[in-house]
Amino acid sequence: MPAMRPMRLALAASELTPFAKTGGLADVLLGLGRWLGEPAENDGAPAGHDVRLFVPYYQKIAASGVPVEPLAGAQDIDVRFPDRVVRFGIQHGKLPQSDVSVYFVDCPELYDREGIYTSDSDEALRFATLSRAVIETCQRLQWGPDVIHCNDWHTALLPLYLRTLYAWDQLFADTKTLLTIHNIGYQGVFNTATLDSIGLGEHRAQLHHCDLQREEFSFLKTGILHAHKLSTVSLTYASEIQTDEFGMGMQDLLKQRSADLVGIVNGVDYGEWDPSTDPKIPHNYSVDDLAGKAKMKAALCNRFHLPHDPRAPVFGVVSRLTSQKGFELFADSIPVYLQRDDIRLCVLGSGESHHEEYFQWLRDTWPEKVGIYRGFQEELAHWIEAGSDCFLMPSRFEPCGLNQMYSLRYGTPPVVRKTGGLADTVEPWNPDTRTGTGFSFGEYSSQALADTVDWVLRNWRDREGWQQLMRNGMTQDFSWERQGPAYVRLYRSMTPAAV
Ligand code: ADP
Ligand code: GLC
Repeated sequence: MPAMRPMRLALAASELTPFAKTGGLADVLLGLGRWLGEPAENDGAPAGHDVRLFVPYYQKIAASGVPVEPLAGAQDIDVRFPDRVVRFGIQHGKLPQSDVSVYFVDCPELYDREGIYTSDSDEALRFATLSRAVIETCQRLQWGPDVIHCNDWHTALLPLYLRTLYAWDQLFADTKTLLTIHNIGYQGVFNTATLDSIGLGEHRAQLHHCDLQREEFSFLKTGILHAHKLSTVSLTYASEIQTDEFGMGMQDLLKQRSADLVGIVNGVDYGEWDPSTDPKIPHNYSVDDLAGKAKMKAALCNRFHLPHDPRAPVFGVVSRLTSQKGFELFADSIPVYLQRDDIRLCVLGSGESHHEEYFQWLRDTWPEKVGIYRGFQEELAHWIEAGSDCFLMPSRFEPCGLNQMYSLRYGTPPVVRKTGGLADTVEPWNPDTRTGTGFSFGEYSSQALADTVDWVLRNWRDREGWQQLMRNGMTQDFSWERQGPAYVRLYRSMTPAAV
């Protein structure tokens, strides 16, 4: 059989760890990008793939002093929109501990803002430009990717741009597009008045007709219509989004495209998330020596100014605080346990103010038991994974979820609702057979969560059983080495010419 040649892969997204992150999307781009570029034989190819990641050069990245240099041949590029010209250049950097190139799209007029996402009037233009910058950069470099892998709504217009504004360019004659849906809850919906300003006014016929009748269009739906292939981040979510309950208006279209839709569970970058090597925690430990975990628990309680008692289980939460994450279920369940039992709750999160205020109320009511940090703090996220005994993730929906997989590796059994990737990655603990890695419940109700917490506390008292539960989780393997090949197979299936 002839050797398969490495592929040319462009990955585009709005987030990338460690440069710009609000959630799991950023971690996936780092882990997948780094793994694809590894010079190892990751799919029988003689060398790593030629991977290039595209992400905006946000103000925070520019200010952080990340080592970059202007990419020769990719400076002063004009993207022409009907009513303005946007000029950008590429700052070239590398993924940490990797030789994979990151192309930062340097366009101060669009990305020199405080946050990654904004509610500014040019938000559509900011991300339309990102898609076009990927294409224009490839043109300047005369680098024709085999696959352009788009992620979420921010880069979902790229397939349509390729089919319209850039259809003339033979460089892309064999280029295929993949759109990965990390979260169907964010669709990038704008008024049709915006279409002209992003250069799609003349291509309305290519957009979803029902949306146009409502005088709106969505980046994500446009991507679902035009990408060659679609994927999402777990098998269960791939089926769920084709239903009325989870499809958020996209279900019919996704059903039509189901032959082109696959689910691939996210990988974990154990280079970043492993308690035996994690540089962000002061006490390392492993499945063979758990002494450091007990120390981490004490350190975490101390950090949150909570009295430490090895017998009192610490429940951890690290999350964007949005309705997706199911914290409304806490209201009629968690206070009962805080009142009755000797437990601790350590929360790291930011988001909708009513959730933040609720956790603050818990803290104010049980200051000896609850600690909260409102904000985003990478290092503290690692501490909570390591220092907690149990991780709470009662999501209403969860495309994949990374935190439950991190928890498994850190010996912190997760409590999850059985949905999306949570259903695919957490096996319920069975004390009789001593199998399973965590706890899960099906019904989206406070009662179901409360019953599960009850069940957790009963199992917590069985110290030997609990140790086995921890070990079961810590030895799970969700590495990119295991999950990544599914992406490579998908890319190859799209580009027979590259085989
Ligand atoms: P989602 O992408 O829906 O937010 P995931 O579980 O896939 O959920 O990924 C969440 C990622 O974001 C994890 O790496 C988690 O540690 C991180 N994270 C979420 N909230 C915070 C926060 N407030 N501070 C630090 N890291 C956070
Ligand atoms: C989204 C989802 C989360 C997933 C992440 C990375 O933000 O909410 O479930 O793990 O993307 O794919």
